[in-house]
Amino acid sequence: MRDHLVAFFESHHRLVEADALRLLLESPEPLLLSRRLVESTPPDATFVTREMVELLVVHGASLSGAHLRVAGSSPSASPLGVARSIAPPPMFTLLSEGFVPTARRRNALEEYEELFRSRYRALHRMLRGRPDLPNLRPMKELAGVHGTASVIVMLREIRRTAAKGHLILSVEDETGGGEVLVPRDTPAGRLSLVPDEVVGLRLYLGREKKRIARVEAIERPDVASNRSMRRADSPSHALFLSDLHIGSKSFMTEPWDRLMGFLRGDGPRPDLALAIDHVVIAGDLVDGIGIYPNQERDLGIGDIVEQYTELGRRLRELPERLNIVVLPGNHDAVAPSEPQPSLPKELLKVLPDRVRSVGNPSTFALNGVVVQAYHGRSFDDLIPAIPGASYERPTDVMKLMLKMRHLGPIYGGRMPVTPQSRDGLLIDPAPEILVTGHAHTFGVDEYRGTLLLNASTWQAETEYQRMRNITPVPARAAVVDLASMVTTAIDCSGDETAVGGSPA
Ligand SMILES: [Fe+2]
Ligand SMILES: [Fe+2]
Repeated sequence: MRDHLVAFFESHHRLVEADALRLLLESPEPLLLSRRLVESTPPDATFVTREMVELLVVHGASLSGAHLRVAGSSPSASPLGVARSIAPPPMFTLLSEGFVPTARRRNALEEYEELFRSRYRALHRMLRGRPDLPNLRPMKELAGVHGTASVIVMLREIRRTAAKGHLILSVEDETGGGEVLVPRDTPAGRLSLVPDEVVGLRLYLGREKKRIARVEAIERPDVASNRSMRRADSPSHALFLSDLHIGSKSFMTEPWDRLMGFLRGDGPRPDLALAIDHVVIAGDLVDGIGIYPNQERDLGIGDIVEQYTELGRRLRELPERLNIVVLPGNHDAVAPSEPQPSLPKELLKVLPDRVRSVGNPSTFALNGVVVQAYHGRSFDDLIPAIPGASYERPTDVMKLMLKMRHLGPIYGGRMPVTPQSRDGLLIDPAPEILVTGHAHTFGVDEYRGTLLLNASTWQAETEYQRMRNITPVPARAAVVDLASMVTTAIDCSGDETAVGGSPA
């Protein structure tokens, strides 16, 4: 029912706040209520909030009145005249978390089957009906087809023929599987495909008995090419950070102090610093314990609770006005498999009250601008799988994520995957901002209306990274003007804070 409701709102171009969805699901007639919600809100309203559901459930009220908070709707475009001055967009709206909390998990195998089914169905919905995928058929029907047909499949295995270097893909959908050939030196043959992603294939099927279907074109779910970036319609700025690694001997105290000075307005561009409302920290908040061999040599704080206590102390240095959103990474004290839940309550106690702790990944709106925040562990699987990809250029990998509409499809690699019935690593909806960390480098780019940020680190190079040949680009942060989507790089790595223009 959950997916049903999300799909229903999606078909009406609405994004549902996580709490709103929970309330709807608890109601006796979730679909009926959802329909009433859509009917009673202005057609250009973007969000369905908890308050809107409560109003409808408790009071049966019409939602076109002044109580309504309508995010992302422009006053002039609203036929019901809901004015922005009456209804400012909520500052922070949690839309969804990748992790699905369940009281009792079924056996892992069943959960994984469900997870792959949910991935396939979600991406199938995005791909079906495209003009480039004519004569769409389930795999089991291909046997009787000659000529052109299309399928939507999950890639199980990708290999090259020894003799001619063509690609052979083992593919499957819910009805069956098989192998197809992608000729080299064709646009399809030049794509970097990764296992377990879902694609549409336009096939040519010959009349020979022992034929192998030939792939004429590959269609990824992708983001619409004509999509334009949604902006906040009130002035608001967000600062993006990642990978603090508090507790590591290599935590960069002085650059951090420079960042705090900048935020207080003591550095360059106090106008910019004082305009910031939100801080998002994309995981690896602390260095953790036992994350890699001999890590204890690199630790300045050897106790996990003390590491979070120190994190709390550092976060209290951030000006009071800031809304702080944190998610865990692979160094944090939650299960390392992804999606990850938010930090446990015991650890939240040592953090300031104003910290909003969300799971990894999570999708939320800041003043109406949709952000998907993901730590980025899947880089460890995607980078080796894609020729030419590197930790130095994380935003190239993030573009591929958007094309696949998935943060990390590869199963069985370095990133452990949480067995749960819903695929929590999908990119749906396409956000205005996709932010990652983990690579310990800094990158800003844009792809089809999505701003891509890799938010650096506050840990200097460690021995372990030297061994793995990773050169960090630390002590950088990105400030995004949510009303214009202009990004400004803040560099605290030198003796003085440097505030750059848009590095995109
Ligand atoms: Fe990290
Ligand atoms: Fe990490």
